[in-house]
Amino acid sequence: MEALEIEAIQDAVPGVYTGLIPPVLSHVLQQRLPASFLALGARRGAEPVGVAIAERREASDTAGLLALTVSEPERRQGVGRALFGEIETALRQTGTRAIGAEYLGGADPDTVEAAFLKACGFGKPRHGIQIWGGSTGLHPEMPWVYRLRLPDVFAVRPFTTLTTQEYEEVRQGEGVWYTPDYSPFADENLIDKERSLLLRYGGAVVGWMIFEPFDTRTMLFKTMFVHPRHQRMGRGIALAAEGGRRLIRDPAFSEWLLFVEARNADMVRFLARHVSCPGVQKEVLWRTVKLL
Ligand SMILES: CC(C)(COP(=O)(O)OP(=O)(O)OC[C@H]1O[C@@H](n2cnc3c(N)ncnc32)[C@H](O)[C@@H]1OP(=O)(O)O)[C@@H](O)C(=O)NCCC(=O)NCCS
Repeated sequence: MEALEIEAIQDAVPGVYTGLIPPVLSHVLQQRLPASFLALGARRGAEPVGVAIAERREASDTAGLLALTVSEPERRQGVGRALFGEIETALRQTGTRAIGAEYLGGADPDTVEAAFLKACGFGKPRHGIQIWGGSTGLHPEMPWVYRLRLPDVFAVRPFTTLTTQEYEEVRQGEGVWYTPDYSPFADENLIDKERSLLLRYGGAVVGWMIFEPFDTRTMLFKTMFVHPRHQRMGRGIALAAEGGRRLIRDPAFSEWLLFVEARNADMVRFLARHVSCPGVQKEVLWRTVKLL
């Protein structure tokens, strides 16, 4: 067997490594690597057998492991460990203090990714984001979608009814009554303003349910928020139910999707109790960190 060689990849990732780059990073292949990226390729002779890509986030002395892939016939022979070892050394030399890794999986914590990262010295992977999805046709299994109604003092209207004055008022509320994470204006050009909903109380905007098309048949429940004054009264869920009912009637979309941060304990609990049912898929973005 030929010896393993690890090369630093400068400028752009050579085409021979294309098959080892995860699809989410395919954009990286079409351009010069950004200066913050560190990429290594592993070869046996002319044969590419592995790739590792990390991104340095200098402002925080941290880095993210964006990809580490070994070709199937070469697995369990130390290639992955060798690639990670080199990337770790290079990161240490540039002053990086911690590297994070994340990967998509199911609910089972015992996966190859977890075993590999643990062997490389990472901590125990934890849920970062839960990804829930299903068909809009499954809603009959979620009776709350039909049952929950907002009291008449609330009005639900499309996002397109937002007036210039309301736009300014809501914008000024960012950091005051809602955090930037819940902004209805994040990537505003991508959202579906016809289908996204505004919640008004006494004529003032007090919440929103933002929808964003994820692909041609899937609608993403992107951001749901109600003013703290109206929280803990089931208003957000009633607003989501209203959005759900509209989606069921909408022939343009047959699937739905939502992402929830694992630290959002209330929402995680709600999903586990009221959305989990056969046919609804749940995936987990697992996260872990290694201090360097
Ligand atoms: C994960 C991956 C990179 C491992 O590469 P590899 O070259 O096979 O890993 P190594 O041979 O260096 O293994 C190092 C250690 O990781 C653990 N490990 C690796 N693969 C494992 C497996 N299939 N089952 C259990 N443990 C495993 C073991 O502890 C192993 O040490 P050991 O062989 O002495 O027991 C490879 O399986 C792969 O490319 N998977 C698809 C992409 C991926 O999941 N990347 C990880 C993203 S975080």
